[in-house]
Amino acid sequence: MALLEIIVAPDPRLKKKAAAVERVDGATAKLMANMLETMYDAPGVGLAAPQVGVLKRIIVVDPAREEAPPAPLMMANPEIIWSSEEKKDHEEGCLSLPEEYQMVQRPDRIKVRYVDEHNEIRTLEADGLLSVIVQHEIDHLDGTLFVDHISSLKRSMIMKRLTKQKKLETGSKRHALESA
Ligand code: NI
Repeated sequence: MALLEIIVAPDPRLKKKAAAVERVDGATAKLMANMLETMYDAPGVGLAAPQVGVLKRIIVVDPAREEAPPAPLMMANPEIIWSSEEKKDHEEGCLSLPEEYQMVQRPDRIKVRYVDEHNEIRTLEADGLLSVIVQHEIDHLDGTLFVDHISSLKRSMIMKRLTKQKKLETGSKRHALESA
C-alpha cells in the first residue's frame, strides 16, 4: 500500500470529467486500497480518484467517527439513481480545499448504484453524513467542487485564499531549494 499525493485547488485536474471504469480488476482494487489509506492518513471521510490525479470514476468513503470501527466503502462508477425531494444543509470541507468549510444544501437521502472492489454491482441507500459524502465525492468525478454549490462571491473569496496559499508554498519551496 502507498500514500498518494492529494491535489490541492486551484488545479485544472480537479475540473475534469472522469472516465468510467470498465471492470474492477486487481489494479483498480489496489488503487482503491491506496486511496483509502491516503484518505485515513489525511485524515478525511471521502476521496475521489481525480483528487489523486487519476481520471477514473472511483471513490472511497468512510463516515465512521474516530471512536467507531472503520466502515469503508469503495465504489467504481457510482451513480445516484434516486434522491429525496427533501434537502438538508451540512457543513462541508474537502481534502483538496484545505481548511475551507461552507454550508452546502443537498438532497437528504439518496440511492446509489456502484461496482464494489470485487467487481460486484451493488446498491446502497444513504442518509445523513454518508449521503453527503457520497454526493460530494461523485461531484468530484464530474469536476464539481463543493464550492460550486455556494454563492459565487463566497467561492471567489475561497479560491483567492487558496491561490495565495499555493503561491506562498511554491515560493517557500523555491527558497528552500535556493538555500540548499
Ligand atoms: Ni472533496
